[in-house]
Amino acid sequence: MRWITRAASISSLAVGAVNGLQVDFTSDDSIKQAASTVAYGLLKYYTGNNTGDTAGNLPDPYFWWEAGAMFGTMVDYWFYTGDESYIDVTTEAMLHQTGDDHDFMPRNQTKTLGNDDQGFWAMAAMSAAENNFPNPPADQPQWLAVTQAVFNEYVGRWDPDTCNGGLRWQIFTFNNGFNYKNSISNGCFFNIAARLARYTGNQTYADWAEKVWDWMNEVKFIDDDFNIYDGAGVEDGCKTISQAQWTYNAGIFLHGSAVMYNATGGSDIWEQRTQGLMNRTIELFFNAEGIPTEHPCEPFNQCNIDQQSFKGYLIRWMAASAQMVPWAFDILMPLVKASGAAAALQCSGSPAANEFRGDPGTACGFKWTEKANFDGMVGVGEQMSALSAIQYTLVKKAEVSKAPVTASSGGTSAGNVNAGAQTDTPISVFTPISMGERVAAGFATTAILFSVIGGSIFVMKD
Ligand SMILES: *[C@@H]1O[C@H](CO)[C@@H](O)[C@H](O)[C@H]1NC(C)=O
Ligand SMILES: *[C@@H]1O[C@H](CO)[C@@H](O)[C@H](O)[C@H]1NC(C)=O
Ligand SMILES: *[C@@H]1O[C@H](CO)[C@@H](O)[C@H](O)[C@H]1NC(C)=O
Ligand SMILES: *[C@@H]1O[C@H](CO)[C@@H](O)[C@H](O)[C@H]1NC(C)=O
Ligand SMILES: *[C@@H]1O[C@H](CO)[C@@H](O)[C@H](O)[C@H]1NC(C)=O
Repeated sequence: MRWITRAASISSLAVGAVNGLQVDFTSDDSIKQAASTVAYGLLKYYTGNNTGDTAGNLPDPYFWWEAGAMFGTMVDYWFYTGDESYIDVTTEAMLHQTGDDHDFMPRNQTKTLGNDDQGFWAMAAMSAAENNFPNPPADQPQWLAVTQAVFNEYVGRWDPDTCNGGLRWQIFTFNNGFNYKNSISNGCFFNIAARLARYTGNQTYADWAEKVWDWMNEVKFIDDDFNIYDGAGVEDGCKTISQAQWTYNAGIFLHGSAVMYNATGGSDIWEQRTQGLMNRTIELFFNAEGIPTEHPCEPFNQCNIDQQSFKGYLIRWMAASAQMVPWAFDILMPLVKASGAAAALQCSGSPAANEFRGDPGTACGFKWTEKANFDGMVGVGEQMSALSAIQYTLVKKAEVSKAPVTASSGGTSAGNVNAGAQTDTPISVFTPISMGERVAAGFATTAILFSVIGGSIFVMKD
């Protein structure tokens, strides 16, 4: 994800249709019908299956990671609604973006590929494993194995030399943000480690989840009141913390904690952490009606393209937490339902121009607290978040048949504990090499070439 702040897109010509999405939240069929309408509008933004385009890519201005988030949402869409319409497009996109090394680090994306970006694709693959989403053909990368590949690479990138640990935001030295450690990157690691621990029963994953949590707590990215802050620069040992609190950071740690609670058979420590995060998340982000706001930007119309999608992940992870922690269900699900109802009311727009190609009158706006007063902000983030809020209302209490599977409870995805590159792609190996180093001539030329590429990438990104 990027620093770049793109002004929130408000289409002034947009009008709210009176007859937007009609949903009866007491009827599963009605919810599924609404989800189908919103999903249709969402996939109309996707161009990756057009002739000449690349599977898995969204058009500008959407960054690569958001497509990973979108296909993760579509994996769950299939699981909860049973609608098979998008299985092929989802599978094709995810497999293609696993890249040459089957680890969600396609070379084309080097300039936008941070630990969090890679993580959103990996979490989509993890959801596919947990939901028994149709497995790819045997000669293709498998959902569990590609998630393990990302986990293994995270382990290799753990950086005790600054801030006593943690993942940096960026993977490559030449990308903006390499000197920043943030909650979302470490949240991806934590979330994936916890889910792999539960799915495989392998203690190594659980140990890493503990380790990430402990570090987050030590640097106070998660404080004693369960606030989760954005991150900090490594220059002063992560002491100057950026205080913004985003919904997706709360959600990703809540879900990871809930999974650890479940995987440990309900341990006291994970119960306390889950409860603390849940309490604080509700208190901080939800109004009295149970509708969340992206506080650092939403009230001021300053959410960038990335941030316009965050609330959807919060809802995704709250619903997933409700499945992992039976006592949390009656606390979390009413909020998911209130959010779903409010989001559905926002799906009443008919924006001008080419911004939206779904059914007229069903474009979803951003500010759920505005309810039927369509706010005119549309895009992948809004559409995906509304889809999430609507589809996750289908999560049922104690419906074990719909709980995420594990390797010992029906999971069929093939794993590989050794998947992933042992080191990052050659580019990151070459960049630290300085001109003064005595290296073979051919190798030096290659290094210079890469640093030139790195330099131009840097400029482009700025
Ligand atoms: C691409 O997929 C979307 C969503 O399934 C569909 O609407 C569109 O027609 C597809 N385009 C092509 C060229 O297959
Ligand atoms: C990388 O870009 C090339 C050229 O556009 C494309 O053919 C290829 O499919 C892309 N690979 C991935 C993994 O996106
Ligand atoms: C873990 O989740 C499953 C599936 O929802 C549930 O049946 C089980 O009771 C949970 N375990 C604990 C310890 O809460
Ligand atoms: C969470 O809130 C509940 C209900 O108010 C309270 O009983 C509990 O002690 C809180 N837990 C934590 C860890 O803050
Ligand atoms: C558990 O995971 C670790 C880390 O990937 C791996 O080295 C180890 O072989 C795994 N153990 C088993 C029994 O699969």
